[in-house]
Amino acid sequence: MAVLICGGAGYVGSHNVRAFVQHGEKVIVADSLETGHRASVPEDVKFYKVDIRDSQALDKVFAENDIESVVHFCAYSLVGESMELPLKYFNNNVGGMISLLEVMHKHSVKRIIFSSTAATYGEPKRVPILETDPTIPTNPYGESKRIMEKMMNWVSRIHDIRYVSLRYFNVAGAWSDGTIGEDHKVETHLIPLILQVPLGKREHITIYGDDYPTKDGTCIRDYIHVEDLARAHLLALGYLRNGGESNIFNLGSGDGYSVMEMINAARTVTGHPIPAVIGTRRPGDPARLVADSTKAQEILHWKPEIVKMEDIIATAWKWHSSHPHGYGD
Ligand code: UFG
Repeated sequence: MAVLICGGAGYVGSHNVRAFVQHGEKVIVADSLETGHRASVPEDVKFYKVDIRDSQALDKVFAENDIESVVHFCAYSLVGESMELPLKYFNNNVGGMISLLEVMHKHSVKRIIFSSTAATYGEPKRVPILETDPTIPTNPYGESKRIMEKMMNWVSRIHDIRYVSLRYFNVAGAWSDGTIGEDHKVETHLIPLILQVPLGKREHITIYGDDYPTKDGTCIRDYIHVEDLARAHLLALGYLRNGGESNIFNLGSGDGYSVMEMINAARTVTGHPIPAVIGTRRPGDPARLVADSTKAQEILHWKPEIVKMEDIIATAWKWHSSHPHGYGD
């Protein structure tokens, strides 16, 4: 019996593949490699280069393997791009989910863990955010993930496929030995961009606005280490295997860090002055996003372990400084 990890060659997916393998799970990876990297998946893990929207190719993966559960990471995830090309996001993200659920239903695979996002909430009415708070996405990316959650909900009621949707806040860091990490063709995330300064790839980091109603005027986010996140997926699978009902969980540390604090932490880790320039606000950025993850702690017994910001950034630095060109593919 194997766990199929769709999107296992991406940033979050590849760290989950490592964690699942380390945990003794038999893992199969399906990834289109459009944004993922083959080199991020161990050689000895069975790998299919497929776009999950290709139902026939996906059907073959299920026919050739004894799959008992699915962990689903395939999605486009650039908020800004989704505001320019909404249909690209609905086609890939929602289309992929339809195809996956159809093939799972056909092969009687009854468990799915889904990679969701804090972007399903939109601009929060209150912080920390609870799973029961309103979901009013402010961009097509967040909307696509919310639609995918709703689709799983209907399919779970009608076809008895149980799901866990994990709503990540800001995923950060890299596998602690520095062998895999974040490598996006278009980088938009704060930590990799900050680290490009000590790597000599950019002169300074631009802070998108310092006039927010926060302690130092810069945006506050809840950063969660990618290894802690992977552990939550293993716990979620255990929960479903033990008969747990379909459920949604926030995954965050519950602590907020400002952009300024992140830059300072990176200065400490790298020993580089990392010049920062104040820029204009990035449209659509909420001032403060922090998770209430009590539900995941109580039901999944999950608790983040790498919580000191310097420790999180140190793992990212280990990866980026040893792989300045990422996977080089
Ligand atoms: N930021 C800067 N300068 C930069 C890059 C980012 O100041 O060069 C700021 C942003 O304005 C934001 C913070 O750093 O305040 C974090 O930005 P990221 O782009 O790293 O992350 P986001 O909070 O925008 O996005 C994350 C995930 C998305 C998800 C979203 C949910 O990356 O996938 O949280 O709100 F949709």
